[in-house]
Amino acid sequence: MAMLEGKAVVITGAGSGIGAAYARHIARLGAMVVVNDIDRDACEAVSGEIAGQGGSALAASGDISSWAFAESLVAQCVGHFGRVDGLVNNAGVLRHGRVTDMTEADFTAMLGVNTIGTAACAGAAIRAMLAAGTAGSIVNVASGSQAGDIALGGYGASKAAVAALTYSWALELRETGVRVNAVSPLAETAMSDLNKDYMEIQSKNRDVVYTSLPRPETNAPVVAFLLSDASAGLNGQVVRIAGRELSLVTHPMIAEPVLEDNWTDSKVASAFAETLMDRQQALGLGYARTNHYAQSDKG
Ligand SMILES: NC(=O)c1ccc[n+]([C@@H]2O[C@H](COP(=O)([O-])OP(=O)(O)OC[C@H]3O[C@@H](n4cnc5c(N)ncnc54)[C@H](O)[C@@H]3O)[C@@H](O)[C@H]2O)c1
Repeated sequence: MAMLEGKAVVITGAGSGIGAAYARHIARLGAMVVVNDIDRDACEAVSGEIAGQGGSALAASGDISSWAFAESLVAQCVGHFGRVDGLVNNAGVLRHGRVTDMTEADFTAMLGVNTIGTAACAGAAIRAMLAAGTAGSIVNVASGSQAGDIALGGYGASKAAVAALTYSWALELRETGVRVNAVSPLAETAMSDLNKDYMEIQSKNRDVVYTSLPRPETNAPVVAFLLSDASAGLNGQVVRIAGRELSLVTHPMIAEPVLEDNWTDSKVASAFAETLMDRQQALGLGYARTNHYAQSDKG
């Protein structure tokens, strides 16, 4: 039996880019796919392509930042396929802006789609899964920029919030059979094209430098695994897929060393002078395994 046979999965923003690659891939693995996108033509094209290759797909165009639409998106999946087993919260928007020139409209747009839209779709899907008493898998979409990046503060914040939602929902849903994980993907798409002019300056501030980006399809096997029963033991994780590299992303934790004392003004100053100043945490995307950035002089 194909890996995702019998599962009905909603993928948001699946009319192009990485979302379309997820939709095509999981349909080939037997899933029934609801292809959502705000762009109706793109949405119908991907859905039609899947159907043309013998897969099961339903086009459900609409704006996932609307909570009413998010409810109807999940209802369309249940109405058409009789169930909902998975949701990939892939729809996203990116707007650049440093702290001094970020606009209210751009920041609001990113939070509206990336963060609040993710919550809208997840809430609707999880309510349907719990009501049906079936297992389910939610795959959110975070980003390496949640660790900080030049001109990506607002975007990174909207994605860091997605990671935070992933941790909380995974805790809330423990023992229910509904799991929540996230991916932190990487690919050459219309969105990454928007970032091209910033790549050089961004790479100076992190220990990961990308000269070319992977194809969207390279991310799809990870999402298929997270949607499948093979990942049943995995919950609350952010999985990084960067071309050939597959890893887990750490979540914010209390860093060693933890100093203990009765903290007076002078003791705080000494603790920083003697220990914590040299233990500052890395900024920007990096690797915990080679955490040399904090000790380096890169900035
Ligand atoms: N490309 C990368 O390297 C990269 C890196 C990290 C995270 N991501 C994330 O992966 C996801 C997909 O990225 P991509 O590069 O394929 O982007 P993309 O811009 O190429 O595609 C995004 C798709 O989402 C759709 N969309 C946008 N707003 C929507 C809305 N309100 N409702 C429904 N659909 C909407 C767009 O029409 C588009 O088809 C996004 O969440 C993005 O933030 C991408």
